[in-house]
Amino acid sequence: MAPFKLLLLSIILQLAATDLNYTVIAVDIRGMGQSTIPSSHDFPSATASEDLKGTYLVAHDKGNGQSAALNAKYRSLVKRAAYTEYVLPGFGYERVFSPELGVTGLYQNWQLAFFSVPDAAQYFTQGQEKQMLAWYFWHASYSGNSVISQDYLDRYTREISKAGYLRSGLEYFNTAEDDAVFFNSTFIRRPTIRESGSSTRRRSGPGTRGVAGADLGPDLAESQLRHRSEGWALAR
Ligand SMILES: *[C@@H]1O[C@H](CO)[C@@H](O)[C@H](O)[C@H]1NC(C)=O
Ligand SMILES: *[C@@H]1O[C@H](CO)[C@@H](O)[C@H](O)[C@H]1NC(C)=O
Repeated sequence: MAPFKLLLLSIILQLAATDLNYTVIAVDIRGMGQSTIPSSHDFPSATASEDLKGTYLVAHDKGNGQSAALNAKYRSLVKRAAYTEYVLPGFGYERVFSPELGVTGLYQNWQLAFFSVPDAAQYFTQGQEKQMLAWYFWHASYSGNSVISQDYLDRYTREISKAGYLRSGLEYFNTAEDDAVFFNSTFIRRPTIRESGSSTRRRSGPGTRGVAGADLGPDLAESQLRHRSEGWALAR
């Protein structure tokens, strides 16, 4: 689950999980895909997580915010959670987002700042959804546009071109401040230690167990290193 993100990942997960007899539900988060746009236009993680009361969560990109918020608010509802490709606001997102970090060109993630001003981003992107997506696939992987089929690009464009849906997707990028306040008051910081070689391990402090035995956050180790994020865990 994530705004403007690849359905591809969900499809891969579904194929993998079918063999293991899990049911995978690829969630269209509020205001995206086949889900409705809430009349409240509320998109902060703490609010949007209300839609996601499930059991096993695999979160990608900004969907991590909602997954982490769901864990924090309703621990008994989540047995395990995996987090991929995201740093939480309050725990490093701001440094990825920040222009001072070296937003030097097209390959960087300048869209995080651009999208966070939805009025401007909508104004400049509306009608250019396909170009925006093509840039997105390209900037992240260089060969992105070669592996994304035209059909997929068309479907993706169609989804975010529906009335209101581009705007909803942009709104998720405008929640960093609200999310940082929520996560700062919900999670505790814990040290991340870097060991020699390429492996990374995290040291848990006392009282940092996560949901139902899941130690929240360890899957973030690599991305934390890359994005200079801080370790985090539920506060009790
Ligand atoms: C999945 O369910 C099928 C049918 O009940 C069973 O044959 C198979 O062994 C199960 N697979 C796993 C990994 O449990
Ligand atoms: C969250 O905590 C970090 C680290 O203490 C701090 O730098 C940041 O300003 C805080 N953000 C908010 C919105 O409280």
